[in-house]
Order: sequence, then C-alpha cells, then structure tokens
Amino acid sequence: MSEQEIKVPDLGGADEVEIIEVTVSEGDTVGEEDPILTLESDKASVELPSPAAGKITKITAKVGDKVKEGDVVGTLEVSGDAGDSGSSDDEPEENQEPEGESQEAAESSDDGKAEESKPAPKKSGGSRTETVKVPNLDGFEDVPVIEINVSEGDTVGEEDPLVTVESDKATMEIPSPYAGKVGKILVKEGDKLSEGNDLLEMTIEEEGGDEAEDAGSSEDSGKASEKTSEPEQKKAPEKQESAPSQPQGSTYEPPAPGTKVHAGPAVRKLARELGADLTRIKGSGPKNRIIKDDVHAYVKSQLQQAQQGGSVGTGSGIPGVKLPDFSQFGEVEREGMSRMMAATATNMQRSWLNVPHVTQFDDADITEMEAFRKAQKTAGEKKGIKMTPLPFLLKACAAALAELPQFNVSLDMERKEVVHKKYIHIGIAVDTPHGLMVPVIRDVDQKGLWELAAESAELAQKARDKQLKPAEMQGACFTITSLGGIGGTAFTPIVNTPEVAILGVSKASMKPVWDGQEFQPRLMLPLSLSYDHRAVNGADAARFTNLLTQLLGDIRTLLL
Ligand code: COA
Repeated sequence: MSEQEIKVPDLGGADEVEIIEVTVSEGDTVGEEDPILTLESDKASVELPSPAAGKITKITAKVGDKVKEGDVVGTLEVSGDAGDSGSSDDEPEENQEPEGESQEAAESSDDGKAEESKPAPKKSGGSRTETVKVPNLDGFEDVPVIEINVSEGDTVGEEDPLVTVESDKATMEIPSPYAGKVGKILVKEGDKLSEGNDLLEMTIEEEGGDEAEDAGSSEDSGKASEKTSEPEQKKAPEKQESAPSQPQGSTYEPPAPGTKVHAGPAVRKLARELGADLTRIKGSGPKNRIIKDDVHAYVKSQLQQAQQGGSVGTGSGIPGVKLPDFSQFGEVEREGMSRMMAATATNMQRSWLNVPHVTQFDDADITEMEAFRKAQKTAGEKKGIKMTPLPFLLKACAAALAELPQFNVSLDMERKEVVHKKYIHIGIAVDTPHGLMVPVIRDVDQKGLWELAAESAELAQKARDKQLKPAEMQGACFTITSLGGIGGTAFTPIVNTPEVAILGVSKASMKPVWDGQEFQPRLMLPLSLSYDHRAVNGADAARFTNLLTQLLGDIRTLLL
C-alpha cells in the first residue's frame, strides 16, 4: 500500500481548465484509469483518470476550481499489486499522458483545424465551395463521430462546431474553419474519422474578393455573382461542377435548433449504456453541462413515468412545449416557482393527462336553502361560526356519495381493481395567496352543518396561514371547489386524481324558472361535476347531479 498524489496531467498547452464534475468521493475504490474528474476547456472536455487502482483518500478539488498541469487534486491509497509500483512516481505521468494527448488533441484541433482544413478554394462567381476536412486530431485516428451539430443548409460562423467526435477520454468539437453555408454533409454519426477525411462541403460567400463575413447572403447565387469581381466570374463554370450541394442547400429545411449537447465522455458513455437521449436531458452542471446525476435522474423519472404509464397512461411521449425567447417581444422577468406551485402544476398535469375527463352541468334551486341559511345568521353570531353554502354542499355531496358509491372509488389500473371506500372524506379547494390548497374534512356524513361550517372555516384559515399538516390534506374521496363567492357561471374542474370526481360550484343567481304556469324568480346554483370516465359513466354522472339538485333544492331530504 502506498499513497499517491493525483495530479493534473499535461493539458496540451492550455493554461487553466475548469473542473466541471468530480466523479468520485473520498473512500471510493477506483480502478486504474477510472475517471476522477472531468475538466473542460473551451472546446473539449477531458476526464482525468485514476493513475492506479486503489482507494481515494482525499479529494481536494471541487467543481468550479480552475486547475493547471501538475496541480494535485487528491490522493490515492494504491492497492496491493499496483502498490509495488513504489517507483510509481513517474507512473501517473505515463498513465495520464493519454489525457494530455486528448486535451492536446482538442486544443490543437481547435487551433490548427482552421488552417489545416482549408484546402485550395474552388472559386465560382460570388461564392466558392470548400470541402472541409478533418483537422489534425493530434495522433488520434478512427475517432467516432458522436454528433453532427449542423444540417445541410445551415448558416454557420467561423469556429461554430460542425461535428463532435469522441475518443476514449475526450470529446472534441471540430469547429468550422469558415463562416458559410453548410452543403453536403459527408459523414454520419458513428463514422470513424482521421485527419484529412472529408467532413462536409461548405459554400462561402465572397465579397469583393474577400471571404464574406455573412454567409447568410449566399442564398441567391445569381445575385452574388453580380457582386463578384471579374477574375472570380471567370471561375463560375467550375463552381457549377463543384458545388452540387448549393441547390440542395437552398431548399433544405433545417431541423429545429436547440439539440446541442454539452456532456463529457463518461456521461455520454453512461447515457449510451442506459439508452438515454442526451438531447432530452437538462444539464445541471456549469454552463448547463449534463452530468451523471442528470442522466440518472432522467432515467429514473422516465422509468417512474413508464411504470405509471403502463397502467394508467401518463401521456409520456407527448412533446414538451418549447418556449420562445420572450424578451424578443418585450421586457420580461423570470421568477422561480414556489414549491407549492411546482407541486400543483405537476399534479394538475398528471391528472389532466391520466384521466379522461367529462364534465356534467346542472343547476340547483337553492332559494329555500338560502332562506334557511340566512335565518341562521343570529345563531351563527352567537356560536361565532359563519354559515356559508359550503356546509350544505358538503352534506349533499356526502349523501350523494353514499347513494352512488361508484363515485367513492379509486382505480388501481396496475392490478385491474376498483378500490371502494367505506368512509366519506371530502376535500375543499381553498384559494390562498401562495396557491391552491385542498384540506380534507373527514367523515362528512357523520357531521352536522355547524360542525362542518366551523371545521371548513378553520381548515381554510389554516391553509391561508400555511399551517396545514400533511395529514390534513390527505385521504379525500371527493373534492368540492367553490368559486361561488367569486363569480362565474360554470367551469370544468380537473379531477383530483386518484379521486374520480370533483364538484365545481359557481355563483348562485336569480333566474326565471317556469313552474308549469308562470316564471318564478328562483336562486339557482350552477354545478359542474367533472369525473373520470373510466370509473363513472355519463348516466351515473347525470344521476349524481340530479340527486345534488334534489338534496339542495329541499334540504329536509338531507335528514332522511
Ligand atoms: N353563490 C353565491 N354566493 C356564494 C356562493 C355561491 N355559490 N358560495 C359562497 N357565496 C358567498 C358566501 O355566502 C359569502 O357571502 P356572505 O359573506 O354574504 O355570506 C361569500 O360568498 C364568501 O364566501 P366564502 O368566504 O368564500 O366562504 P365559502 O364557505 O363559500 O368558501 C372556500 C370557502 C374556502 C371554499 C373559499 O373561500 C375559497 O377559497 N374558494 C376558492 C376555491 C378555489 O380557488 N377553487 C379553484 C380551484 S381550480
């Protein structure tokens, strides 16, 4: 056993590079060559491999640190056999050499590429076509293409990445040696590249004999040739032969942008092993770089979705909404979502995507109910309790759930079972300054109107004061969401899954109701019952709202 320092290898001339990921922790056992850190320069990410097999005893570097050749980033207790490389002082240098090379490859390719991949131009009228070649990869050969960053027809600037290649230890971007328009792409993902291979064709706009800065104007070659000087015009025929990609480029529809991936080789390898598409993963590392944790988190979430989706259908696979850059339309400000808002958003989406919703509408005549409620005002003042329509609604819903128990269920699609509940707990949606909360009133069927009035008021206040305990928000069989105190004539609430129905209540208003002989002014309460059509059929939904209108229309029936 011997202790060995883990040092930053030759960085191929780069002064300082940033640590973007630390892949091991103290106490970890690593094999020789296992990645310890990922370093990133402008154009390449490189893994620093362990110089030997052993146990990490110390890691002194952290993400964000800038390091240079020779810096010690940690120590390693070299295990058994490897330890007898007591003479191993030099060994790490040797082992790290490929890293140095990788980095160097990336760096030198960065520097050298532009020069090396500029063959003699074929000039033609206003533009010329070049075949961009693979630059010096500093000795690396047969390096696979892992990503093609451009499409035919794309306009690119000088130094924009064209293709990403990946050796065992480094990911390198081959930058464009010119500003121009991408013509025919001569490689595909998986192709192995070596120096001098043809990469792609590019059309470069000429302006007064100089290379054009803005290749975007090369769309119209006729126009371009008008601008060109005479010697160049003489070469026009050559262009027609040598630029077959030009017409193609001008009609080609490039795919949607935004799929550029920032990830180190180990992360790419992991993603490949797990079958994760890196373009779908949001990077949480520096400069939005994708790190291993992101890949794991993504795969985990996909598995969870698939498991739920296998039985209830999460709608996974639905493409996400791409946001435009809103600031192009006017001033904007971004603000992080509160945890509650984020949780509500997730729940709403989950329910909306999982539950086939239908909403049944009806009006309840609450003229008598309101007369009774108002008559309780003095009694309420004595008790210190305000009687609103909500307790009546709770009581009516509890009675309807008892009468039509198909509403008091949850579906277990995984086991293909219906869970019948023998209790009646009802959630009430409460509008609070920090978002929507749904406290639950237990055993509503066993409570009186005053008790329900007091409890709902207390829970609503607790919700507004952020005082609700988790247990007070769990276990509901059904939810009432009342916007009656605010307004509106109807709405389509979203079922609070795994419940199978929710009652939306809008503002009561006087309406002329035909009694068979004449119109009577009646106070009508609009009800909107959304339900999960897998659990409840339409006829039962109509029965449910019918029953509610009867119970609310004559509250004496609530006593029966
Ligand atoms: N029609 C007409 N008036 C109504 C009514 C209705 N359907 N429901 C309530 N009102 C009246 C009440 O009687 C009260 O009037 P009053 O003071 O003259 O007696 C007034 O509106 C306010 O009632 P409110 O304090 O809201 O009590 P409530 O018991 O009816 O409702 C909550 C309690 C917690 C449900 C309610 O405050 C709330 O937060 N509602 C919003 C729920 C929500 O945001 N849902 C959206 C989900 S997407």
